[in-house]
Amino acid sequence: MSKEVISLSDVNIYHGSNMVLNQVNLKIHSGEFVYLIGKTGSGKSSLLKTLYGELPLREGEGKVAEMDLKKIRPSNVHLLRRHLGIVFQDFQLLTDRTVFHNLDFVLQATGWKESGKRKARIAEVLNMVGLATKDFKMPFELSGGEQQRVVIARALLNDPEILLADEPTGNLDPEVSDDIMKLLKEISNKGTAVFMATHDYRLINKFFGKIYRCESGMINETSSLNG
Ligand SMILES: Nc1ncnc2c1ncn2[C@@H]1O[C@H](COP(=O)(O)OP(=O)(O)OP(=O)(O)O)[C@@H](O)[C@H]1O
Ligand SMILES: [Mg+2]
Repeated sequence: MSKEVISLSDVNIYHGSNMVLNQVNLKIHSGEFVYLIGKTGSGKSSLLKTLYGELPLREGEGKVAEMDLKKIRPSNVHLLRRHLGIVFQDFQLLTDRTVFHNLDFVLQATGWKESGKRKARIAEVLNMVGLATKDFKMPFELSGGEQQRVVIARALLNDPEILLADEPTGNLDPEVSDDIMKLLKEISNKGTAVFMATHDYRLINKFFGKIYRCESGMINETSSLNG
């Protein structure tokens, strides 16, 4: 049996006093590939934000990588994030430094003290995303797809149990999106759970995964993309 890495029971998600999702029940296991679909404004990003501790869990029970979401505070959210890789639509690399220094910045911020080990880890993750020779490039010297690969490499640095991706292919053309999907699939095949919000049904039809749909304030597992 694979391990449960995300579990939500009867969770209600709010922005201020406005309830966005109610009675969310969801379980994700290590190595699973799971899509989150739903119309714009249906609550996909809000659900992901709850999982990475950006939105506090007020009602219901939630566990992510064995941490209780109700106990997450600004002062300990870094302990949760250590188990997570997070990837967004817009690439969010630091524009003033090279690929290597973007990655090194994260390793230093997460306690990697020895520069030799940092160097080796950076080489490893760049290799995983197929950018082994691009470490000296500035972000603006890379294509959109390459930048998104660097973002994924950055998310993998601390060997996360879970990768949360919010529209990771939203700014990419179909061919490049497919390459990113292949990479995300490889990552889940190695045991990391991948939970990905997307509007792109073409990808869902092409790359198998479990599907949850946000609709009318609820989340349900579905096997159909219609409706
Ligand atoms: N920071 C915020 N403050 C208040 N309300 C918010 C905030 N962010 C989102 N909302 C509201 O919460 C609801 C869900 O938004 P959310 O961003 O989770 O949707 P989404 O499914 O990710 O949409 P999209 O497909 O457009 O990214 C919307 O009604 C939105 O207006
Ligand atoms: Mg969103």
